[in-house]
Amino acid sequence: MSETTILDEHEETLSELKALFTEAGFGAPEVFGCAPGRVNVIGEHIDYNGGLVLPAAIDRWVRVAMSRRSDGKVRLISAQSTDAMVEFSVSVDLAPEGKSWGNYVKGVVAGLLKEGIEVPGFDAVVNSTVPVGGGLSSSAALEAVFGKMILTLIGVEMEDIALAKLCQKAEHDFAGVPCGLMDQAAVILCEEGKLLMLDCVDDSFQHASFDDPDWGLLIINSCVSHELSDGGYAARRDACHEAARILGVDTLREVDPAKLEEVLQTPGLTEEMRRYVRHVVTEIARTLETVKVLSERDYKRAGELLNASHASLRDDYRVSCVELDFIAALAQKQEGVAGCRMTGGGFGGSAIALVRRDCVDTLTALIEERYRAEFGIEPKIFETRPMGGARAWMA
Ligand code: GLA
Repeated sequence: MSETTILDEHEETLSELKALFTEAGFGAPEVFGCAPGRVNVIGEHIDYNGGLVLPAAIDRWVRVAMSRRSDGKVRLISAQSTDAMVEFSVSVDLAPEGKSWGNYVKGVVAGLLKEGIEVPGFDAVVNSTVPVGGGLSSSAALEAVFGKMILTLIGVEMEDIALAKLCQKAEHDFAGVPCGLMDQAAVILCEEGKLLMLDCVDDSFQHASFDDPDWGLLIINSCVSHELSDGGYAARRDACHEAARILGVDTLREVDPAKLEEVLQTPGLTEEMRRYVRHVVTEIARTLETVKVLSERDYKRAGELLNASHASLRDDYRVSCVELDFIAALAQKQEGVAGCRMTGGGFGGSAIALVRRDCVDTLTALIEERYRAEFGIEPKIFETRPMGGARAWMA
């Protein structure tokens, strides 16, 4: 995408950012950047098990304006946070503090320093439309945009996949979430009109077109907040790795789906591990098949696979919740919906539906009404198409 297009696309939001930057007393911005949220079409909880995942960047953005400081200090303001300004000094001794959103930025600065990159101090203002706690990777977007912008500010190049790994490490060390690579890779590597096929066995990737004018992706945010750092995520990750050890494989990717029932009888696997292994092995197979059927525009089969993924996450992996189960069950029954499943880490957050675009309005109204009646919560529903990944440019 040319710079003119970037500027056109973000023109209104850029003037808003500039105004926020000046209001904060930061002067004139030198660099702008944006990074999208992401939604995972299928391949859930398999990135840390060597699986193939299929995310897309969505039309919700973290936008940032930045300028360099000469005293090594970092000052951060977010238009979405009621916290006062976050401040710290660039140093090799950076450590996370409390639950501040500034930890994600600190983690990225720390990672760049570890790479031997001389990070200067900077002022930055963040303005975001990626819902926090919606399972749409607001944190990965924040990490990615700061990574891209700092590198642009100092004119240093880094390969996208290397930056994604650096951001993943920031999430591990500064947010306490032992995540896989999917979110950071998606918000950096995605291309417009395409799904990202990230093969987590070796972090190789390709892009697959998803640009049928008649079919779209509907995101249904349950507005129930999830908390990945509270242990549920890490416990599953650990159990999967322990199961792989017991089965004598490097990752669960190596388990042959045709031999699954036999493998599940292996002594030493707990009942819980058997459920997790079943989810992971079947989900990897579902994802591979989804890639194939989507390329053939066989939405009926793709929808069946999405529905099966939800059932597996609900019953075997147990990362869904009543709100997401309600949304998935309701959406799956509606005209024009090929399939619907929870997406992302789970324990709340969002569901994704593969929908015929002419049914979106009716479907949205129906889900809003029924969900509100059942839980007294207003869901946030929006259609999205696959977007390009994070970028930064000089003002
Ligand atoms: C979170 C993690 C990802 C991935 C998903 C589940 O979003 O950050 O790495 O494991 O959960 O698929």
